[in-house]
Amino acid sequence: MNNRKIIVAIDGLSACGKSTLAKGLASRLNYRHIDSGSMYRAATYFLLLNNIDLSDNAAVKRCLSQLEIHFKSKGSRSQLYLGGQPIDKQLRSQEVDSRVSQVAAIPQVRRKLVLLQQEMGEGKGLVMDGRDIGSVVFPDAELKIFLTADLDVRTRRRMKEVTQNTDLLDFETVRENLVMRDQIDSTREDSPLKKTADAVVVDNSNLSPTEQLEMCLVLAQIRCD
Ligand code: DC
Repeated sequence: MNNRKIIVAIDGLSACGKSTLAKGLASRLNYRHIDSGSMYRAATYFLLLNNIDLSDNAAVKRCLSQLEIHFKSKGSRSQLYLGGQPIDKQLRSQEVDSRVSQVAAIPQVRRKLVLLQQEMGEGKGLVMDGRDIGSVVFPDAELKIFLTADLDVRTRRRMKEVTQNTDLLDFETVRENLVMRDQIDSTREDSPLKKTADAVVVDNSNLSPTEQLEMCLVLAQIRCD
């Protein structure tokens, strides 16, 4: 079915289902999936763990030199390792959630993570999701998808995801947090989220995961021919 391996870049706002789509595509195409957001979350977790003042550039830089992130593949599933330890749930905590946009706006953080991401794309056969994948990380990706969904739909999805203090979360708080993060991610100076001219826009507010997957698979298959 697939004649050549390609790179699929998926970008979009927070909680619009990028990772679900990316995982599904990677599994069906037999590609590797990398959730680049999890790398920014791991960097945030690491800086918080080390009690780094995020406004102290020198301290951030020193701490980043110790940051070691890699992935191990299990089929199309990729497990993130931070300093040799598998890490998952901690990346979705409310604390990380509320600081990650701030960390993702720090140029030294982006430089380090973008280089790692580009190395992962060297052999192609990769689906990566994030905010700057089609614009900065892989500007020559064969397929770029820009995913969108209504804010309320995204709020409900994020509420399901956040694992810590779930009973303390209310719809308005999560909604406000998403609005704030979208604002920071879209207006920051370094690599803001933006749709590139060659990206295909998919609004999945009224699509089931299966419907959006089948639609995007067709787009990928056309590019593989
Ligand atoms: O997709 P996510 O919510 O897990 O992303 C976490 C944060 O990282 C979010 O604030 C946007 C940022 N991010 C980024 O700036 N660039 C990427 N390629 C991926 C995520």
